[in-house]
Amino acid sequence: MHVITVEGVGNCRRGLHPIQESLARSHGSQCGFCTPGFIMSIYALLRSSQEPPTLEQIEESLAGNLCRCTGYRPIVDAFRVFAKTNDSLYVNGALEGHSGQFICPSTGKPCSCGLKPGNEDEKLKTDRCSVDDYSPVSYSDTDGTIFTNKELIFPPELLLRKLTYLCLTGLNGLKWYRPLKLQHVLDLKARYPDAKLVVGNTEVGIEMRLKRMEYRALIYIAHIPELNQLSLNDEGMEIGAAVKLSELMKVLQTVSDKRPPYETSSCRALIEQIKWFAGTQIRNAASIGGNICTASPISDLNPLWMAAGAKFRIVDGKGNIRTCPAEKFFLGYRKVDMASSEILHSVFLPWNKQYEFVKEFKQAHRRDDDIAIVNAGMRVLLEQRDTKWVVSDASIVYGGVAPVPLFAYKTKLFLIGNTWSKELMQDALEVLQEDIVLKENAPGGMVEFRKSLTLSFFFKFFLWVCHHVDGQTSCPSGIPSSHLSAIQPFHRTSVTGSQDFDITKHGTAVGSPEVHLSSKLQVSGEAEYTDDTPVPPNSLYAALVLSKKPHARILSIDDSGAKSSPGFAGIFFAKDIPGNNNIGPVIADEELFASEFVTCVGQVIGVVVADTHENAKNAARRVHIEYDELPAILSMKDAIHCNSFHPNTEKCLRKGDVDLCFQSDQCDKIMEGEVQVGGQEHFYLEPNSSLVWTVDNGNEVHMVSSTQAPQKHQKYVSHVLGLPMSKVVCKTKRIGGGFGGKETRSAFLAASAAIASYLLNRPVKLTLDRDIDMMITGQRHSFLGKYKVGFTNNGKVLALDLEIYNNGGNSLDLSLAILERAMFHSDNVYEIPNVRINGRVCYTNFPSNTAFRGFGGPQGMLITENWVQRIAMELKKSPEEIREINFQREGSVLHYGQKIEHFTLDRIWNELKTSCDLYNARKEVDQFNSNNRWKKRGIALIPTKFGISFTTKFMNQAGALVQVYTDGTVLVTHGGVEMGQGLHTKVAQIAASSFNIPLSSVFISETSTDKVPNATPTAASASSDMYGAAVLDACEQIKVRMKPIASTRNYSSFAELANACYMERIDLSAHGFFITPDIGFDWKTGEGIPFRYFTYGAAFAEVEIDTLTGDFHTTKADVTLDLGFSLNPAIDVGQIEGAFIQGLGWAALEELKWGDPAHRWIPAGFLYTCGPGNYKIPSVNDVPLKFNISLLKGAPNAKAIHSSKAVGEPPFFLASAVLFAIKDAIVSARAEVGCSDWFPLDNPATPERIRMACTDEFTKAFVDSDFRPKLSI
Ligand SMILES: Cc1cc2nc3c(=O)[nH]c(=O)nc-3n(C[C@H](O)[C@H](O)[C@H](O)COP(=O)(O)OP(=O)(O)OC[C@H]3O[C@@H](n4cnc5c(N)ncnc54)[C@H](O)[C@@H]3O)c2cc1C
Ligand code: FES
Repeated sequence: MHVITVEGVGNCRRGLHPIQESLARSHGSQCGFCTPGFIMSIYALLRSSQEPPTLEQIEESLAGNLCRCTGYRPIVDAFRVFAKTNDSLYVNGALEGHSGQFICPSTGKPCSCGLKPGNEDEKLKTDRCSVDDYSPVSYSDTDGTIFTNKELIFPPELLLRKLTYLCLTGLNGLKWYRPLKLQHVLDLKARYPDAKLVVGNTEVGIEMRLKRMEYRALIYIAHIPELNQLSLNDEGMEIGAAVKLSELMKVLQTVSDKRPPYETSSCRALIEQIKWFAGTQIRNAASIGGNICTASPISDLNPLWMAAGAKFRIVDGKGNIRTCPAEKFFLGYRKVDMASSEILHSVFLPWNKQYEFVKEFKQAHRRDDDIAIVNAGMRVLLEQRDTKWVVSDASIVYGGVAPVPLFAYKTKLFLIGNTWSKELMQDALEVLQEDIVLKENAPGGMVEFRKSLTLSFFFKFFLWVCHHVDGQTSCPSGIPSSHLSAIQPFHRTSVTGSQDFDITKHGTAVGSPEVHLSSKLQVSGEAEYTDDTPVPPNSLYAALVLSKKPHARILSIDDSGAKSSPGFAGIFFAKDIPGNNNIGPVIADEELFASEFVTCVGQVIGVVVADTHENAKNAARRVHIEYDELPAILSMKDAIHCNSFHPNTEKCLRKGDVDLCFQSDQCDKIMEGEVQVGGQEHFYLEPNSSLVWTVDNGNEVHMVSSTQAPQKHQKYVSHVLGLPMSKVVCKTKRIGGGFGGKETRSAFLAASAAIASYLLNRPVKLTLDRDIDMMITGQRHSFLGKYKVGFTNNGKVLALDLEIYNNGGNSLDLSLAILERAMFHSDNVYEIPNVRINGRVCYTNFPSNTAFRGFGGPQGMLITENWVQRIAMELKKSPEEIREINFQREGSVLHYGQKIEHFTLDRIWNELKTSCDLYNARKEVDQFNSNNRWKKRGIALIPTKFGISFTTKFMNQAGALVQVYTDGTVLVTHGGVEMGQGLHTKVAQIAASSFNIPLSSVFISETSTDKVPNATPTAASASSDMYGAAVLDACEQIKVRMKPIASTRNYSSFAELANACYMERIDLSAHGFFITPDIGFDWKTGEGIPFRYFTYGAAFAEVEIDTLTGDFHTTKADVTLDLGFSLNPAIDVGQIEGAFIQGLGWAALEELKWGDPAHRWIPAGFLYTCGPGNYKIPSVNDVPLKFNISLLKGAPNAKAIHSSKAVGEPPFFLASAVLFAIKDAIVSARAEVGCSDWFPLDNPATPERIRMACTDEFTKAFVDSDFRPKLSI
């Protein structure tokens, strides 16, 4: 085996590989945590491709990688260039096309991004890049060589090396064998009957790592010749059990191309199913035997093997082979017809007969890299009798509806002998319901959806077979052509898009679309994150002891098991805390370690340290706690019912007189309703991590932490240890994404590690596993809004009475500020004369919820847009019309007294309406919908206004330290944290422009509490505004000091000037400070100016849904945002794209499922969706097919640094355009069955919600048209 790491592919010293360089240049790396994975995926593809891959292959190879920052578009663009046959990329001078025009190094297309700097008025309409210093993609800064000279080759000595039998011993005596002969495998299996066979390890790996299963022996069977055979004969094809899925797919493709088409119906069904099986990485490693023998009830292939009539060959310890029909192989949940001495040898797949049709089905949460909710394999053999087609054999098999793949025997018997007709189909649907029995609280939930899918799939199968029988030219009689939409396969075209912005430069760097300053380190894997920090000698690793009950009294703690576990070094509980156990970012309503009561699952009770991470986790698992369980509040509705609120969180905002307005006859209509807003997991790619150590025998404590708020870590640690803050230092170089999740809910982790470190006087590292991180560190708040809205017949809103609640969880954390922002944003962009908003924070027995991009704003605006959309439906007008008629304008006074100034939404709206051609888009969608019964399209145009400033006034302050060195380089430190958003890059640009030096002369190393004290967390989108201004202040101070020297003569460089100042004993270091002026809000009067200014934007989205399955994709999204004069348009575009895709996750993909009254099949208070396996963030294939971003031109912002505007949070809400476009499509689907009433559609609009809202004859078998799928809120 030869392993090439990302550093081996290329690095900053040796030179970057073209792939790395292209990704860096294309702004495809923000926090950088995902970046090495993307590099390696594309590197593997390019190295293994005989010829340049197609664009589809490139996108497909990225489908198994996740990025939470970029929105994927720049990543695809960066790699797009490798799809071309363009050797010149690897050598100098690739920049000119045939006609002499500039060829973009990212897209490989002609574009204008390479125009020379300083040309014309420096305004570019660009495709992304800053190419003012373009050098060859493969050029090494260090030695000037080109990359092809150093491409790694597969070591020849390894090619010559012969495989040998291997036996290795691992942790706890685990044996790992690599036999080379089948007999050796059988012998080993006789010796270790419980041994696991391993090929891809994709299942066993998960069992051992996540399910904590322990095995004595693993037998790696990938090299056994018999298990890798692939042979064909007249009857069918024999496939060895160790054959990998990618390999199988290739062979099936070749076979399908060569044999008569009717023989390979099963092959094609398998190919189609494997396409949506996991991602490329898994398909390259996973074997068919592994899939079959895992016997998962949701295996994608087992229903197909069964339906296709495959036979499994099983070999026993003596080498005898027996055959078992796939249909009979699965006996119970993960139980198969195989003795412990037997193994699966191969699969025999028979060729199909003439008029035999086999088809696959799968519906998952996310189309790519996701396990099925329900899948199916269906086969029918037809026989022509006179003019009729009669069923002579059939098999209908479903996955995901029973503990084993379910063979619908009654349906099979019913079909055989009958004529394949519409009537048969309808009767078969009835019989199917007898075959498939799912109880109400069946594991996995979504029972109604799953049952509906079984019927939808069969209906699709019926149409598909009809279509094929009829020679694919016409529809079977009696079926309208619009029904063919049910069987049109989904084909995703490649992502395209444009990024349209002006560049307004200010000095040497401000305004320029510079690449992220750490991008080169990130693409080469050299960038260090907290967990990469080398641990000092003698370090220990920590794991947390966590509550397993949502609400209980702790009766006893038995830690003897932990103390006797390997590598144990110490365990600490509440009684051991040297300082104060009571913590909390706003009020101290939490305990660091629960002392008497636990109030949520996952609450920290203690910390264990051991010599390794694994040993620490093992020891923590061995702590036994006895609880006395108490009643728990597990939903907001329960909280409201039981009057369970966090103390002092009742807030009210008022404008006009709501009651009077409702009582008067001004309102033609008054509507009341309820909006549920689902939560969201941050899913930063880097989990929380802290490394803490003591200095001078515990006199000082230092730490490196992954946090957005180093000052909070410093404060918490000093508080729990009883040390002064001056003796505690926290440093943060960069973090792998935060999105609000590391603003407050990371500090208790550092404090936990600090307890162990301080008491043992040894360095301690605590890095959370993904599942624990998701379980215990809180999420975006779910919200509940109860509205009453009065309006006129032409749609003018006159009064809004809103009760708004958020789910705070078991401590207050930032929930009140989040509720307040939701209340501020509950008007979105609409002028409402009479408003009353009452808000409260619900106390529930869940982990405390916390900040997440938008900080309550999106939830408030989503509630608003829900009632706006409802008014439109009520009045039979378009939602855009209702929006326009209610828009705020310049001078509008908001419901909290702030006056709108510099209003730009009207411009944005009109420009976007024109550029997306709303009128024609609507016409085309209507046309499509009238021609397609089972696919519908929808559109939406959504506006936003986001207030910039922390609504807590004192937090609007920022400090910075600027140091000029005698060589003319500048070191900047400020209170903000770099988390991928490009803060350091923008701030460095400000310093460079201020000193009139190149950007390369400015460096920002890290954020540290001993350089800039009392820093506000990096949050609220305002960090560039504030830290940029603080840095500018420091630079200006230094410039003032330099001025007398500078004025004496003309210095040839800044270095010369700096050195001259030094010689004259001028202080070249300055502390800068900034406070946001003219803001403040008084909750007593409900009046004030909470926001310095607003960022406005709008988005258009078009989607297509499959009404039978709930599958959807976004065909188009256009976003326009007003960012004033952007400090760095490339970074800002990246923020918009990233926020939009993250928002799309919130709007339509990401669902948190908690053990609550809605999900009784999950243990109370536990988070079910606690990993990438069942919590689905958008992947590359969820990006809108056309994704256009524009920044409003010519709109300087007088209220922030260099006329710019804040960008981080404002675009997030715009992704709700996708949700409302989905709703628009569903409206058309419902109209087909005469349902024209308004209906709720909660976010996320998952396939379950979409499909169940598209009420039709298949859903009506189980639920009414007003059915609302369950949501944890
Ligand atoms: C990220 C991810 C995504 C996934 N997506 C999907 C998906 O979309 N659809 C789906 O169906 N599955 C999916 N899976 C599940 C899994 O990848 C597949 O089941 C895969 O085919 C297992 O193959 P493997 O070679 O990796 O199995 P391994 O982990 O190597 O082995 C799995 C089991 O099979 C047994 N076994 C293997 N070979 C034999 C044999 N010859 N005889 C007897 N027993 C044998 C082993 O003892 C072991 O118990 C996914 C898994 C992951 C991690
Ligand atoms: S850049 Fe991809 S996760 Fe941050």
